[in-house]
Amino acid sequence: MAHVSDLIATDIEQYLKAHEHKSLLRFITCGSVDDGKSTLIGRLLYESKMLFEDQLAAVEADSKKFGTQGDAIDFALLVDGLAAEREQGITIDVAYRFFSTDKRKFIVADTPGHEQYTRNMVTGASTADVAILMVDARKGILTQTRRHSYLVSLLGIRHIVVAINKMDLVDYAEKVFRDIVEDYSAFAAQIGLDNVTFIPLSAFRGDNITTPSSAMPWYHGTTLMGYLETVEVDDARMQRAPFRLPVQWVNRPNLDFRGFAGQVASGVIRPGDRIRVQPSGRESTVARIVTHGGDLAQAVAGQSITLTLADEIDISRGDLISTVEAPAEVADQFETTIVWMHDEPLLAGRPYLLKIGAKTVTATITDIKYQVNVNTLEHVAAKTLELNAIGVCNLSLDRPIAFDAYQANRDTGGFILIDRLSNNTVGAGLLHFALRRAHNIHLQHVDVDKAARSAQKHQKSCVLWFTGLSGAGKSSIANLVEKKLHALGHHTYLLDGDNVRHGLNKDLGFTDADRVENIRRVAEVAKLMVDAGLIVLTAFISPFKSERRMARALVEEGEFVEIHVDTPLEVAESRDPKGLYRKARRGELKNFTGIDSPYEAPESPEIRLDTANRTVEEVVDEVLSDLLQRGILGSKV
Ligand code: ADX
Repeated sequence: MAHVSDLIATDIEQYLKAHEHKSLLRFITCGSVDDGKSTLIGRLLYESKMLFEDQLAAVEADSKKFGTQGDAIDFALLVDGLAAEREQGITIDVAYRFFSTDKRKFIVADTPGHEQYTRNMVTGASTADVAILMVDARKGILTQTRRHSYLVSLLGIRHIVVAINKMDLVDYAEKVFRDIVEDYSAFAAQIGLDNVTFIPLSAFRGDNITTPSSAMPWYHGTTLMGYLETVEVDDARMQRAPFRLPVQWVNRPNLDFRGFAGQVASGVIRPGDRIRVQPSGRESTVARIVTHGGDLAQAVAGQSITLTLADEIDISRGDLISTVEAPAEVADQFETTIVWMHDEPLLAGRPYLLKIGAKTVTATITDIKYQVNVNTLEHVAAKTLELNAIGVCNLSLDRPIAFDAYQANRDTGGFILIDRLSNNTVGAGLLHFALRRAHNIHLQHVDVDKAARSAQKHQKSCVLWFTGLSGAGKSSIANLVEKKLHALGHHTYLLDGDNVRHGLNKDLGFTDADRVENIRRVAEVAKLMVDAGLIVLTAFISPFKSERRMARALVEEGEFVEIHVDTPLEVAESRDPKGLYRKARRGELKNFTGIDSPYEAPESPEIRLDTANRTVEEVVDEVLSDLLQRGILGSKV
């Protein structure tokens, strides 16, 4: 095979030009440590002549030192770049590699085979056109082959190659190949995988990689490289899907120009096409398609463009531009599949940031319906999702977004979840469909509103949110504050942890997940009571910043007063009014806050109370005068 890379030496201009017009195929390789995955990638790089002389020399030297192949070149060493990996003989992260042949450019994501690295595989697979599943001919289909297949089908990869490797070690026997094909086909049907191609090969010896193997005359199918060079890439398929342009930014260099820039996720657009902006629903007509290289008569999936419109309509970053004939759906509640990627488990009820395209909204998991055991495909009940777990979850957003089902469009149907405090990506997900209940429940208008209700009570409603360790004094302080407010004629209600846990929240314990749900319900109740015009006091440990922040966000600016009853652990523990610290220290009470469950102190509460060496009366007076100063209690105090 003649290689374009030969041109590098002779005609660089032509080399670059040839590259520009070639399509790009993205693929991943999945398999376990010793299926020969790294050897295969090394072989592909070698066969495509994309290895430079000095790299080859280094690999040859390394092969002698670390290699497992005697004096022959160990291609795995090319790929297992990290020293630590070499010594352990395993691959531990996603690595992207680039190579090209006369026909195509390729990016391969190499992902590790261990179970704990599901997230790496998901990362590598989310943009892949093709997945190569490595199978060792001597071992056949293993549990991890099934797991990878499930993930690959979940992530919507259309084309699967089952690369039956190490055929040289089974004497190139056709029967071995046939048995594996039969075995895998039955499984593929079960999970709905079609488009599966089986190729018998030896990555080590180079059989059926670029040239048909003379050792396997019984095989008449394609070589691996032949397959990779001709299979349809996703960009081509996405051109036939409805038009979608996630707006990355609004380009307004001067008053005469206003363009909406982004990469076309799918479909085709031309000047004159009618478009709809989602979720707002506003419509207009495409005036121009602007690019660096001048205006276009049409743009297709994969191209980066700037659209200008015939009308001045309001569009911001994160909006989706569709055509009026085939718009996306708009909703704020969904069924989804979530792959959890963080050491700290997913907690239902906790708000996370959800990023889809260029849009970021706040999302809460309302229900973990089940977790999928990726090895057996069984559905198992789950209260949280741990690192690498995959679960089907209902999810609710703080506002509607435009979307497509992930299976129809990976760009407009896939999302990531981000922790609001650390800004870490903690999960990835796929939208299945909008929940119908979201369509059928509308907010009802009521005539008597918060302002009317609180005016009748001559007060400004608000939440006084007490937080602190068990035994810090929250209940006693809140109780006396309420008593004084009541005496002054205020309309109040005290929600106290121990009391609420006897009723509304008696189904909840003290795991992180239950505490999150405890506070979510209390925050919702507090919000209703603020709407009722009351001064609400809450006394809960409320140990997590994230949920206190959520409670704050539920009411209006200025209506939330966070009061940290800042009693040190030693002091709370020495008081130990209910004997719980003693129990916890003896190991009879698990997940006790401050002992074996965390308390995240507020960084900037409205009020911080030092309770050491002070009476409850003194502390309460401080709270009341502070509230008065802030104008929260009007003139009644
Ligand atoms: S929170 O963490 O979910 O906000 P909440 O304020 O409702 O807790 O309940 C705390 C009270 O429950 C404590 O004051 C204590 O009396 C009791 N309790 C029982 N078990 C625990 C525990 N493991 N951790 C903390 N408090 C506990």
